[in-house]
Order: sequence, then C-alpha cells, then structure tokens
Amino acid sequence: MNKIVIAIDGYSACGKSTTAREVASVLGYTYIDSGAMYRAVTLYFHEHHVSLTNEKDVVGAIENIGIDFRVNKEAGRCDTYLNGMNVEKEIREMYISENVSQVSRIRAVREAMVNQQRKLGRKKGVVMDGRDIGTVVFPDAELKIFMLADIYVRSVRRQNELYERNQLVDLQEIRENLEKRDRIDTSREIGPLKQADDAVVLNTTFMTLEEQVDEVVNLALSKIVGKKEVSLGT
Ligand code: CDP
Repeated sequence: MNKIVIAIDGYSACGKSTTAREVASVLGYTYIDSGAMYRAVTLYFHEHHVSLTNEKDVVGAIENIGIDFRVNKEAGRCDTYLNGMNVEKEIREMYISENVSQVSRIRAVREAMVNQQRKLGRKKGVVMDGRDIGTVVFPDAELKIFMLADIYVRSVRRQNELYERNQLVDLQEIRENLEKRDRIDTSREIGPLKQADDAVVLNTTFMTLEEQVDEVVNLALSKIVGKKEVSLGT
C-alpha cells in the first residue's frame, strides 16, 4: 500500500499528539512528536546553562545533542531519549513548558531539528505533529491537518494529562502558559505556527478523541486510495 506523510499542526494542547499517536497506530505508521524534540533541547540547555543569547554557545551545544525515540512497551508509547537517557518524564515538566518557546524560536535550533525531522520522515508512513510540519518540514505532505480548540477546553485537557503523570498544576497557570506559548510560537520569525493553505482545519473543542482519530484516519485513507489510483493509471 502507498505510504503518505501526515502533518498535524496547531495550538498547544488541542489533542495533536494523542490523535497523531492513535492515527499512526491504526495505519501502522510511525508517530513522531516534534515538540518532544524542542523540549529535549530545552532540557539540555537548562542542564548545561546554555545562554540563549550567545549564538556560539547555542551552536556548540546543539552539536552535542542526540535525540531519539524508543518504544516503551509497558506504557504503550515511544519515549524521548536525550543522549541515551530517557527524558520522557522530565520534558513534560512545567519548567520546560515555561522555557521551550524561547528555545524553539532560535534559528540554529530550528535548523537542526527540521533537518532531523526530515530524515525521520524520509521513508514516508509517518504522522508528525508540531507547529511547522505542514508549512516548513514537509510542505509536500499528502495530508495536512490544522488543529485548534477553545482555550478553556485546552487548559482542562492539559491539566488532566499532567494529573495522569502525577503532576498537580493550577488551571490558571496552565492557561497562562498555553497563551504565552501560542503568542511566541505564532509571532516568531522562523517557522511560525500558522495554517498551511492546503490544511484541513479541525476544531476539536466539542470532539472526543475517538471522533478526532476517525476524522483524520478517514481523510488519510482517501488520500492513500487516491494516490494509489493515480499511480495505477500511469
Ligand atoms: O504538547 P504541547 O502542545 O504543549 O507542545 P509540544 O508539541 O510539546 O511543543 C512544545 C513547544 O515546542 C511549542 O510550544 C513550540 O514552541 C515548540 N515546537 C515548535 O516550535 N515546532 C514544532 N514543530 C513543535 C514544537
């Protein structure tokens, strides 16, 4: 069967990652969480006291960063590894969320991550979620989704997600963090969060996870079948 690239972009905590993971599992595709990569870089910069305004420091640090994803059978997901260490729990902490948008707006960081993301998606059969996947990383992706949802709903969803990871965080603190990141992510110069012209918009405010997954899987199947017809006719 023909394999396609599915790019899912959108605002923080609209259900991108959960939907992308499920869609990948239904289609037998690889799921790549590009946000986890920016979070891992943020953790490295924090641990090594890298000054975000010192370009030489930033470039030097990036050369020492290796990020990969490994299957965690017990948790039924892939965990993020930074230089061989499992950092999946650490990168979801609030102090990382507080700083990640300042790190992800740096040109050298974006260039390194986009290169790596393109390599990971080279063979197709991937679902990647992020902010610039359909616009910068894979502008030729066969299916692009742009997700949005009401800010209150997003805050509650993120609070529940953190609670499941044993983190109790105040709803207002979460809301402020989401709003702040949206602001920085949409206004940055390189690879800003924005809807690709050919993206399908999915407002998930009143949707269940199951409905979101069904919607994306159906769109993907029509692209896969469409692609097959084209190649059969030639
Ligand atoms: O899961 P959540 O919506 O909180 O965010 P994430 O996907 O883990 O991404 C964390 C941060 O990484 C975002 O707020 C962006 O600053 C950055 N990011 C990015 O710049 N480009 C991407 N393709 C993915 C994430």
